[in-house]
Amino acid sequence: MPSNSLLQVENVSKTFRVRGKKLHAVENVSFALEAGKTLGLVGESGSGKSTLGRLVLRLLDSDKGRVVFDGTDITKFKKKDLRALRRDMQIIFQDPSASLNPRMTVGEAIEDAMAIHQIGTKASRQQRVSELLEKVGLPEEVKYAYPHELSGGQLQRVGIARALSLNPKLLICDEPVSALDVSIQVQVIQLLRDLQKEFNLTYIFISHNLAVVEYLSDEIAVLYLGEVVEQAPADELFRKPSHPYTQVLLNSILKIPNSPEQRQKMLSIQGEIPSPLNPPSGCAFHPRCSFATDACKTVKPERRQVSEGHYAACHLVE
Ligand SMILES: Nc1ncnc2c1ncn2[C@@H]1O[C@H](COP(=O)(O)OP(=O)(O)OP(=O)(O)O)[C@@H](O)[C@H]1O
Ligand SMILES: [Mg+2]
Repeated sequence: MPSNSLLQVENVSKTFRVRGKKLHAVENVSFALEAGKTLGLVGESGSGKSTLGRLVLRLLDSDKGRVVFDGTDITKFKKKDLRALRRDMQIIFQDPSASLNPRMTVGEAIEDAMAIHQIGTKASRQQRVSELLEKVGLPEEVKYAYPHELSGGQLQRVGIARALSLNPKLLICDEPVSALDVSIQVQVIQLLRDLQKEFNLTYIFISHNLAVVEYLSDEIAVLYLGEVVEQAPADELFRKPSHPYTQVLLNSILKIPNSPEQRQKMLSIQGEIPSPLNPPSGCAFHPRCSFATDACKTVKPERRQVSEGHYAACHLVE
């Protein structure tokens, strides 16, 4: 792992007990993330993206592995240490209204985060609220508005302003644009990119949509049933997807070809996502993979290096 990483996640696993069975939500995940960079986390619903985000933030305790943030192992941090850590790591959710109190004005909500952490005086916090609103492209009057008076895009900007109020180093963006209209998605993503540059922010950007992740990410990890099946620099992943699952995910965002022959050739994700309570043997993707061999049905593929910094867990990768 590079020593200049802001975040190192090492062999982290998390299981939940569901109806007496073990559900492997996150399985043996490792990655390192440098300050000022973005890791995109993609995968279908239930692949463990949010759980991984919560493990990094220590909103959940991992069963195995460790998380090193800014040079400190935070895996065993207790309540008091976690409080300080919360300032440095913030999260933005898909539905910003869920994290905003409907009875607080926007100004109060943004100030509240700073007040909880006893930052500044009332007057300095008010001043900072105005600055933050400007940074996220909202007019100052929005301060006096209640969440229900704002659009989805405006609310997400408020969520970003609230997260930034504590000067975090790491921002976990969990499907932050999925609920927004496409044109608004682009604006919010551009805003996140501008803010990243200005404040040297480090992002984990979670989405089920590879196209959304591409724009912001330096590195992308593809999750399938809790495991990273492929990880690579973003441009490399798009140029040379090596895992069949990544290939189908990429295909699903490309334009549908005109000719029937080309359409025929297109890979499709066959079948439903298997239940994580009863994952397939061997490679978990094998029941849906067009290339699966007998070995894929029985032998779990190890992570293999495709090229420098590019890994895939697939028997077919040479
Ligand atoms: N608290 C919990 N108790 C039991 N199972 C859970 C819990 N949280 C998550 N899971 C399960 O863990 C798996 C991963 O869930 P997670 O929410 O991390 O997926 P996700 O990739 O974020 O999905 P989505 O795209 O739908 O948000 C799922 O099978 C989910 O049902
Ligand atoms: Mg999720």
